[in-house]
Amino acid sequence: MSTFAEDMSRGLSAPQKHTSSKYFYDDRGSQLFQAIMEMPEYYLPNCEFEILQEQSPDIVAALDFTEHFNIVELGAGDGLKTYHLLRYLVNAGFDFTYLPVDISSEAMKQLQAKLQRELPDLKIEALVGDYFQILGERLGVESSPNLLLFLGSNIGNYHPAEARDLLQRFHRAIRPGDKLLLGVDLQKNPNIIRRAYNDAAGITRSFNLNLLERMNRELGANFVVEQFDFYCSYNPQNGEVRSYLVSLCAQQVQLGPTGPRIAFGEHELIATELSRKYTYAELEQLAGDCGFRVASHFRDRRGYFTDSLWVRG
Ligand code: AVJ
Repeated sequence: MSTFAEDMSRGLSAPQKHTSSKYFYDDRGSQLFQAIMEMPEYYLPNCEFEILQEQSPDIVAALDFTEHFNIVELGAGDGLKTYHLLRYLVNAGFDFTYLPVDISSEAMKQLQAKLQRELPDLKIEALVGDYFQILGERLGVESSPNLLLFLGSNIGNYHPAEARDLLQRFHRAIRPGDKLLLGVDLQKNPNIIRRAYNDAAGITRSFNLNLLERMNRELGANFVVEQFDFYCSYNPQNGEVRSYLVSLCAQQVQLGPTGPRIAFGEHELIATELSRKYTYAELEQLAGDCGFRVASHFRDRRGYFTDSLWVRG
């Protein structure tokens, strides 16, 4: 596995500078993301919250699991996204175990503590580590059927080939009859999408600039943050929100005492994030390419978002 320093050096030395959006989430970045999720423009969390609050009985009925089953949530964080689903299952007396997975041990400790308090009858086994290592180790020895959860439109951060690769690996890790609930932000009025990422208060801008601050803090880099701007665009022809940092002048940055020296031209970009929005047709295609079949869509009332239930063929 490569490190933050290696990935930043490589991405910023490339002809088209780029950084991986997974590095947004240090402590400060996670705080800023919490603030994004509370912004009125950023509709995604509300949509998924509404779906799980109102449609958990329908989702569970569609699973059609008759014995003990596992709910494995990849990238669970400490956000309690799935609280309404879990509460419904516990209250309705289903026999299941909740296995949240995250690489942050702190997030898993907090989630476990919160859920034990809120839902004392829930069987929970929090797992810390890399998704695929855990899927291999834990599901390899498991005989109960599994529902994988990959929520929050996290799939949107993956370029199409990477998304296929990730979902194919999910497919290989589970067994026939296992299911996947995939949270996906859908294409819609482009103005709504643009506002969600170009927020008036500039929180998304701070979230992006924090990556430069993180390099200063952790790598000893010397970015002058005021000399960078944030730019973001939505292209409704391909469903891509693309976020960038923009160098406001020609400048050089040293990526820490042992790191490379990076030259920026005036107006040169760093591509920081892809947040892809899908159509139903694209989802059908993607599922088929990865060995799944779309069983049903659970959408919010406005039709902005779907929790799409896929069955492993
Ligand atoms: C957490 C990946 C779903 O792409 O919408 C929010 C992250 N970036 N605002 C997204 C994010 C800018 C978010 N995901």
